Amino acid sequence: NNISYQEFLQAAVDVTQEVSPLILKNYHSRERKIEYKGAVDLVTDTDKAVEEHIIKTLTTKYPFTKILGEESTKDGIYGWTDEPTWIIDPIDGTTNFVHRFPLFCVSIALAYKKEVVVGVIYCPTLNETFTATLGGGAYLNGEKISVSQVDNLQHAVIATNVGYDRSKSGIDFMLGNLSNILNQNVQSIRFSGTAAWEMASVSCGRIDCFYEWGIHPWDIAAASILITEAGGVVVDPTNTKVNMESRKVLCGNPKIVELVSKQLLEKPGHPK
Ligand code: IPD
Repeated sequence: NNISYQEFLQAAVDVTQEVSPLILKNYHSRERKIEYKGAVDLVTDTDKAVEEHIIKTLTTKYPFTKILGEESTKDGIYGWTDEPTWIIDPIDGTTNFVHRFPLFCVSIALAYKKEVVVGVIYCPTLNETFTATLGGGAYLNGEKISVSQVDNLQHAVIATNVGYDRSKSGIDFMLGNLSNILNQNVQSIRFSGTAAWEMASVSCGRIDCFYEWGIHPWDIAAASILITEAGGVVVDPTNTKVNMESRKVLCGNPKIVELVSKQLLEKPGHPK
């Protein structure tokens, strides 16, 4: 059909504005209903209500589109096909949201033939809207953005997260990577608890690189097009082609990605 990327983008931006008041109201409220998806992995009634509203709005407007959503994915099976598919994380950074730590965001991507063609990340507390369309550049609140130009680890700030793996081998693996990077005299490391917002921060150059094992397509889809449209790269941690369903990612400005990739270990038992 002949709907432009720009029109899809506008629909996604509009829906983030529609859910914003509910997210902010519940963020400030003392009452919250929390469920555990895993030992340390949370979901709230806000995540569910926001996802429901986004799905309903976008599929009513574009009935031919499919959904890959964090809270509507069953049994860990993504079922991601070539059809036009909205990839939705209603609140990326749910732990932050629950603890009233102000970094979390709504992430909406549209993929076609499994390529992301539209991406929006909206952070309600900072009032930041990041947008990108394939071939159309990346923007923060309407201003064109680009990844950083830092070309050495001593001047680089790297972000990652501790995720949900609390196994001995998982912890050793995470600490091994941190140790390797710190031993390169990296300027600093950040763990903000929201992969999508950290990747959005890579796209506008305030973080030079991000990596994580354990992420899902909804954490990285929208942010990945922000980064590539801002001149950065989104790859597998081995610095080869990324597989968005492989639960691992490395991204940033190309030079820092190349340097960080050399420091990252292979995770024992992790699917390739
Ligand atoms: C999570 C956050 C967190 C990251 C996890 C994600 P959620 O998303 O991005 O920073 O460490 O891997 O699953 O569950 O808050 O939407």
